[in-house]
Amino acid sequence: MPNAYISGLGMYVPPKVVCNDDLRAWYDTSDEWIYTRSGIKERRWVEEPASTADLGYQAAQEALRRAGKTPSDIDLIIFATLSPDLYFPGSGVLLQHKLGLETTPALDIRQQCSGFVYGLSIASQFIQTGMYKCILLVGAEIQSTWIDYNPEGRTVGVLFGDGAGAALIEATEDSSRGILSSHLYSQGAYAMELCIAEPSSATRSHKLPGSYGMRPYMNGKEVFRHAVQRMGEAIETALSAQGWRPQDVNLFILHQANIRIIQAVADFFGLPMERFYNNIHKYGNTTAASIPICLYEAEMEGYLKAGDKVILTAFGSGFTWGSVAMIW
Ligand code: UT7
Repeated sequence: MPNAYISGLGMYVPPKVVCNDDLRAWYDTSDEWIYTRSGIKERRWVEEPASTADLGYQAAQEALRRAGKTPSDIDLIIFATLSPDLYFPGSGVLLQHKLGLETTPALDIRQQCSGFVYGLSIASQFIQTGMYKCILLVGAEIQSTWIDYNPEGRTVGVLFGDGAGAALIEATEDSSRGILSSHLYSQGAYAMELCIAEPSSATRSHKLPGSYGMRPYMNGKEVFRHAVQRMGEAIETALSAQGWRPQDVNLFILHQANIRIIQAVADFFGLPMERFYNNIHKYGNTTAASIPICLYEAEMEGYLKAGDKVILTAFGSGFTWGSVAMIW
């Protein structure tokens, strides 16, 4: 059975840097509050017009180039986003068209911050069965356009950024590298704890009394608590599936939602923060793009070397979470 491995990575973030202090134009907030509560110093925002598929296209082009491939080599596109260009169809078909492809299948997945982990698992299954040999997985978001700029939007508004990451996933007969295992979970009982509830099929185009409106809602403390617990559990599951001890893992990459969540997970395993790659200070929470952007920068900065044991884990709206164990 072939193994799936990442043969090329790409990323794209818009050039416009928005510092914590810039957010004071809308919110009663401070650099000190944002940095100490989340670890974020700045994020990138698009300057309109721009679309999520555009950002994904930029990242995809780089991933293809680094893998030495062209669009015509792609057997399947998987597009993970919570901020699609359109209500429907998904951004995957828009990316397919931008890449100049005609009938390549495109699959959109809506697993929010866990989108890239889910996407890797899906890609890996398609490759292991032999159905596809080369899959483009993109995680991309434009979140600056749904942020609530009203004063009460500050708790969520300061956390999120725009960006895209892409990975080309290919088949290899070399069983000593690539994706070894993946574990996926969700718990819809908590769907309303982190959501944008409208536009909704339940409310047609008019707001119902008591509806949230087109505004993000997050029960921050509840999400925080579950994120620490569930990402910790997902790492334990990955470790036991591989027979690894925590200290055997060269690099952990966790979804970048809050540096305090990552610190809590590191403390739980008794590991130093050096084992956890982080760039949340530069980009904030880029949702489905956060893990591929981390992978890209970790590789560029020399933190990922051939043969390294790597565990990825994410948690987000849904709730959804999961982990992937791989040899780089
Ligand atoms: O990607 C999906 C997963 N997302 C997450 O994992 C996020 C999880 N949650 C969190 O990261 C944290 O809960 C937050 C960063 C969102 C909030 O941190 P917190 O320590 O839970 O703060 P809090 O919500 O309890 O707010 C503390 C205080 C409140 O004031 P009072 O009631 O104590 O007077 C807030 O009104 O901070 C106030 N506050 C702010 N102050 C300045 C809330 N947002 C801000 C702000 N600037 N932006």
